[in-house]
Amino acid sequence: MHERLTLPISDLVARHLEIEPARVEGLYAPPGKGFAGDLALPCFQLAAARKAPPPKLASELAALIDGAHLDVRASAKGPFVNLTFDPASVAVRLLPPLADDPRAALRSPIGAGKTVCIDFSSPNIAKHLAFHHLRGTMIGHSLSRCYAATSHKVVRINFLGDWGTAFGRLIAGFRRERMTAADLDAAPSKVTFLNDLYVRISLAETSDPTVGDEARSWSKKLEDGDTEARDLWQLFRDATLFELQKLYDLLDIQFDSVRGEAYYADKVEVVVQEIEHRGLAKVDKGATIVDLAAFGLEKPALVRRSDGGTFYSMRDLAAADDRYREFAFDRSLYVVDVGQSLHFQEWFSIAKLLERPYSERLHHVGYGLVLMWNDETNGWSKSSTRAGKVMMLSDVLDEAIDRARGIVAEKSPELSEGERETIARAVGVGAAVFNSVKAT
Ligand code: ARG
Repeated sequence: MHERLTLPISDLVARHLEIEPARVEGLYAPPGKGFAGDLALPCFQLAAARKAPPPKLASELAALIDGAHLDVRASAKGPFVNLTFDPASVAVRLLPPLADDPRAALRSPIGAGKTVCIDFSSPNIAKHLAFHHLRGTMIGHSLSRCYAATSHKVVRINFLGDWGTAFGRLIAGFRRERMTAADLDAAPSKVTFLNDLYVRISLAETSDPTVGDEARSWSKKLEDGDTEARDLWQLFRDATLFELQKLYDLLDIQFDSVRGEAYYADKVEVVVQEIEHRGLAKVDKGATIVDLAAFGLEKPALVRRSDGGTFYSMRDLAAADDRYREFAFDRSLYVVDVGQSLHFQEWFSIAKLLERPYSERLHHVGYGLVLMWNDETNGWSKSSTRAGKVMMLSDVLDEAIDRARGIVAEKSPELSEGERETIARAVGVGAAVFNSVKAT
């Protein structure tokens, strides 16, 4: 949309050279490295038509543009005219069309025919969506909108953490406390119910070893497809998703695929066996490892535990195979905090060792973890849902909306209640979102 800034310049130059403005309009380019300015006008073609040396014409045009009071400063640098726009005039010219129809103003065809998978949000089941989840969720959402606006086909994926030993524990706790689906259903917050249950059973495990045995046995049953275990797993997953959905609705976030880790649990074995058959793995103290020194990684990656269990990283690899098969992506992004950088380096490297055709298309979009102030340690730390040290996203959004509601009521009492509520939601959620993704 730079023509909104350049058209007056093109008109001026075209009149001066007695040519069509369109011949000037197509020439603008980003300024060369190290040159000041917002845009450059290369003078080669214009000079050739005039049979003049480009630097000479560049000086002539720079003086012409500078003298015309167009809210732009121009200076010649060799065969280029460098243009620096006055920020206020950029705002005046660009913001109205952006406000009128942002999608139209920003749309571009550069991604036509290309597919991008974006894995974002991807929270764990039976835990609350916490305030620290907002950043990754919104970065992924923003990226998906940018890619869509540039004509890419976007596949938004919520890779739920719906597998692992936590479920064995939850099932063991649920049964020990003789709970039923009706108890869960009656809870004001189903996730709080599950999280509290998890905390209680984990605590019990520290003093009673039979609890741990039970939890492991339920994990095993779940992996083996035991009906009771599967049914409870489904119950916990559905209950969590139900609450997550309320937040996603409030944030206006949609996903094209909500396929979690559990979906890949039985597909991992094939991948790990492939690694073994291709001679890429070694056995070390009963565990299976892959040396990744060639990729600059000091420590080998673990691909199979000594008890035969497999890893999160292998579920990611199995999922990437699946996504490539289904979407033939040109790019696949993982919007996950930098705390998981090593995880991504490891399995991206293994994908290369396995010569996956997509291995160069994987990107970890890492972002800084959102930390919480911890009064006990007098320092910043990761928030922990399990330890109860967490700021729930729903609380933050509710409070933001509440504060906005107060301001709207004070400033615009003439509006109807419905109107005020719509504004309070937009402003409250918008403020929390903006604060979490703004670059400081
Ligand atoms: N569930 C994980 C967590 O909460 C994040 C998953 C990120 N995505 C992925 N494909 N590994 O830490």
